[in-house]
Amino acid sequence: AEIAQITLDGPAASGKSSAAKGLAKELNAYFVNTGDMYRALTSVVIAKGIDPETQADAVEAILPEQDIRYVSGEGLDLLLHINGELAEASQVRSPEVAAKVSLVAKIPAVRKWLVKRQREAAELGLIVMEGRDIGTVVFPEAKFKFYVSASPMVRAQRRLAQEGEVSEGATVEKVAAEIAKRDEMDMNRAVSPLKPAEDAVMVDTSDLSLEAVIAMMAERVK
Ligand code: C5P
Repeated sequence: AEIAQITLDGPAASGKSSAAKGLAKELNAYFVNTGDMYRALTSVVIAKGIDPETQADAVEAILPEQDIRYVSGEGLDLLLHINGELAEASQVRSPEVAAKVSLVAKIPAVRKWLVKRQREAAELGLIVMEGRDIGTVVFPEAKFKFYVSASPMVRAQRRLAQEGEVSEGATVEKVAAEIAKRDEMDMNRAVSPLKPAEDAVMVDTSDLSLEAVIAMMAERVK
């Protein structure tokens, strides 16, 4: 099979995960969510009692003992494993992890370590990969790149609707502030900041249904 990558990048809760998943299904491609890889590592960092803000060295030191990877499941499904065990959504998508993940993701050694695993996943075949630096750093040669965004209010409302990912009693304002803080960190870090690739197609999903976004992207690729 011809090996190729389709990349989706964009800020938190922009709808890129759902769009990437739908596009992959439409194209019979593999789907890789790289945010979950950063989140998986962050859950390990938290479990070990390491503060990523002040102990970047300690985070780097545990990397050689960690095994975070996507394993083939049924058909085109890929399953995220953390040290040999299936990652639970409650572990990876928790508010505690969301609060710390950008601190872990800005550590250069962490990025190098995970980017290597992300590039390995592309050996599977046609792949749709989403994250923050996929079109700019992981696969700069990709033929199809999308940068997915939405207005801050729309993103906060979408995130609020995702059960388990926000704290009890969270308001749309609080969620919007959490998202803005994470984006700020992701856009301003020294290594691989979030930004559109020069050749990315910009997709504003604020006023579009998920189906419309997927159809638009599939149209461009086909
Ligand atoms: O996509 P998601 O919001 O789950 O990503 C969680 C965090 O992981 C982001 O806020 C960012 O700090 C980090 N990330 C990254 N590079 C990627 C994907 C995610 O730095 N390619």
